[in-house]
Amino acid sequence: MIVTVDGPSGTGKSTVSKAVATRAGLPHLDTGAFYRAATLAALREGIDLADSDAVVDMVSGMSMDQDNGLMFLDGEDVSTEIRGECVTNAVSQVASHPEVRRILVSHQRAWVAEQGGRAVVEGRDIGSVVFPSATLKIYLDARPEVRAIRRATQVGEDPDRIIEDLARRDHLDASRDASPLTTPDGAVTVDTSDLTFDQVVERVLSLISAKS
Ligand code: DC
Repeated sequence: MIVTVDGPSGTGKSTVSKAVATRAGLPHLDTGAFYRAATLAALREGIDLADSDAVVDMVSGMSMDQDNGLMFLDGEDVSTEIRGECVTNAVSQVASHPEVRRILVSHQRAWVAEQGGRAVVEGRDIGSVVFPSATLKIYLDARPEVRAIRRATQVGEDPDRIIEDLARRDHLDASRDASPLTTPDGAVTVDTSDLTFDQVVERVLSLISAKS
C-alpha cells in the first residue's frame, strides 16, 4: 500500500498526509524535506545554487534520513532549520536540477523499501515519477487565496505578501523541465478550499479503504 499525496503548498498536504498515515497505520514520508535539507547544506557551504554540478557533488556525498517526522542531514537533526525563510526562498532552484532530483528520489524509494514498501508519501512528483504505480494517488488542491490565508496564519504574515510568494513558487515548481508539479495519471483530485481538515482526512481515508 503506497499512497501518494501531491499538490502545491498551502493545500494542507503535510498535515493531512501525516494524519492519514497515523490513522491508516502507515509510515509517512515528507519528500519536500529532502529538497530543503539539500538546500540548507548548499547554503551552509556557500555553493552557487545555479551550479548544478557543484550541487550534485555535494548531494551525492551526503547522508539523509527521516525518522519519526524529523529530518537528518549527515546525522544532524535539521528539522527546524530547513523551515527557515532562507531555505524556503532558495529550495525551488535546488529542486530544479534533474541530477539532484535523481539522487533524492533514490533516497526516497530506498526509505519506503526499508519500511516494507508501505507508506504515505507527500511531495510534488510522487504519483507521477517516484511511485507511478502507487495503490492510490491523491492530488490536493485549493484556491490560491485560500492557500495564502492558510500559509499566512501558519507563519504569522500578511496574506497579500504570501500570495505573491506562493504564485512565484507554484510557477517555478510547475514550469521546471525536470518532474514539474502536475496532476499524476490516475490521481483523485481533492479540492480542500471548502472542506475542514477532518473532512479532507476522512475523504482520503475512505479512498484508502476502497483500495484495501
Ligand atoms: O513541500 P515543501 O514546501 O516542503 O517543498 C519544498 C520544495 O521542494 C518546493 O519548492 C517543491 C520542492 N519539492 C519537489 O520539487 N519535489 C518533491 N517531491 C517535494 C518538494
